[in-house]
Amino acid sequence: MTSPDPMHFYQPAHGHGLPHDPFNAIVGPRPIGWIASCSADGQRNLAPYSFFNAFNYTPPIIGFASIGRKDTLRNIEQTGEFVWNLATRPLAEAMNASCAPAPAEVDEFELAGLTPAPSRLVQVPRVAQSPVAFECRRTQIIQLQGADGGAVPTWLVLGEVVGVHIARHLLVDGVYDTAAARPILRGGGPADYFEIGADALFRMTRPAWP
Ligand SMILES: Cc1cc2nc3c(=O)[nH]c(=O)nc-3n(C[C@H](O)[C@H](O)[C@H](O)COP(=O)(O)O)c2cc1C
Repeated sequence: MTSPDPMHFYQPAHGHGLPHDPFNAIVGPRPIGWIASCSADGQRNLAPYSFFNAFNYTPPIIGFASIGRKDTLRNIEQTGEFVWNLATRPLAEAMNASCAPAPAEVDEFELAGLTPAPSRLVQVPRVAQSPVAFECRRTQIIQLQGADGGAVPTWLVLGEVVGVHIARHLLVDGVYDTAAARPILRGGGPADYFEIGADALFRMTRPAWP
C-alpha cells in the first residue's frame, strides 16, 4: 500500500477539494484597508478591504482590490480621492459594521457610530476614532486579468498617500510604535482576525554582501 502524498495539491480552477477554500487563510493575516470615500454629490462611504497593501515608499502608494463594482470603487472613479484608516482592536466591531452591503445612500460612518473628521488635503473625511489615517489621491485603477488574458471583474485601486495623520501617543521618541496601535488583521474563514501586540515582534537585519 502506498502512503498518501504528504502535500495536498490542487488547481484552483478545478476546486480545492477541502471543506473550506484555504486561500484567504494562507495569505494571511492581511492588513485591512478601511477606506473612506465620497460620491461626486458628497455622499459619505466607509468600507473594509483586506485585499489591501502598500506598494511603494517614494511616493508612498497603497492599493486595494474591489471584487465587483462596489460603492468605494465608483466613488474613487468619480472624485479621485480616498482616505485609509487604521483598523484597531477597539474599532474592530465598528469596522465590521461598516462592511454591511448597505445601499449607496447609507453613510457607514453613521451606521457604525463613527465620527467623520475633516481631512486637510482631500474632501473625504477620516475616521476621527482611528489613530492613523492616510489622505490619498487615486493614481491608477486597473481591472485584473486571469492567466488566459480574460478580464476578471475585480479592480485594483491604487492611490498616492499625500497626507498622514498619526496620534501622537503612538510616536515614542518620534518612532511609530506598531504594536501600541493594536492593529487588527484579517485571517481566513468567515470570521478570523488577528490582533498584533508587542509579543508578535522579532527583529532581523538584512544580510550584508559580500
Ligand atoms: C475584513 C473585511 C475585509 C474585506 N475585504 C474585501 C476586499 O478585499 N475586497 C472586496 O471587494 N470586499 C471586501 N470586503 C467586503 C466589503 O467590505 C463589502 O462588500 C462592503 O459592503 C463594500 O462596501 P462599499 O460598496 O461601500 O464599497 C471585506 C469585508 C470585511 C469585513
